[in-house]
Amino acid sequence: MLLLLVLMMIAASAADERDELLKMCRDKYPPQACPGYWYRLDGQRCMSVFRSFAPFDIAETYCKREGGHLISINNLSDYNQVLCMLLRDRYTRNEHWIGAKRSQGKFSWVDGSGPLTFTKWAPGQPDNQQQQDCVVMNYGSWGAWKTLPCSENRLIMCERRG
Ligand SMILES: *[C@@H]1O[C@H](CO)[C@@H](O)[C@H](O)[C@H]1NC(C)=O
Repeated sequence: MLLLLVLMMIAASAADERDELLKMCRDKYPPQACPGYWYRLDGQRCMSVFRSFAPFDIAETYCKREGGHLISINNLSDYNQVLCMLLRDRYTRNEHWIGAKRSQGKFSWVDGSGPLTFTKWAPGQPDNQQQQDCVVMNYGSWGAWKTLPCSENRLIMCERRG
């Protein structure tokens, strides 16, 4: 009985977190259309989320076939646009790859936009365990980033120019 109550409270606070973020999204980051049923990310880029799971490199290949890359997030506005797309896409919080990868100790964006300048790491991240060189968003709470082995299967979202 107590366990049930605790579980209900956890579910309720997760729903509250989502509702609060959705309000911010409605007020500040309403969805804007891009060609081909994608959404606007910034002045130069569109973005979309897909229903397939893949390891990081396959996910990047998938995005290349869509004419782009895994998404790079360069400032708070990019971050919120991506977060709001994920919030609107599904009720539950699923981990998605972002285009950040560590090589020789340094993270950079696979679309070539350089080293990470803006980050939203979850507490204790990035961890420096061996072979956790790729990054997902939505770990532990909405939007938070975590390193994972690149061979893990996670959901795909992509950016492309447009
Ligand atoms: C955020 O970065 C993008 C490039 O990723 C840029 O186009 C946009 O103008 C920047 N927005 C702000 C508010 O700095």
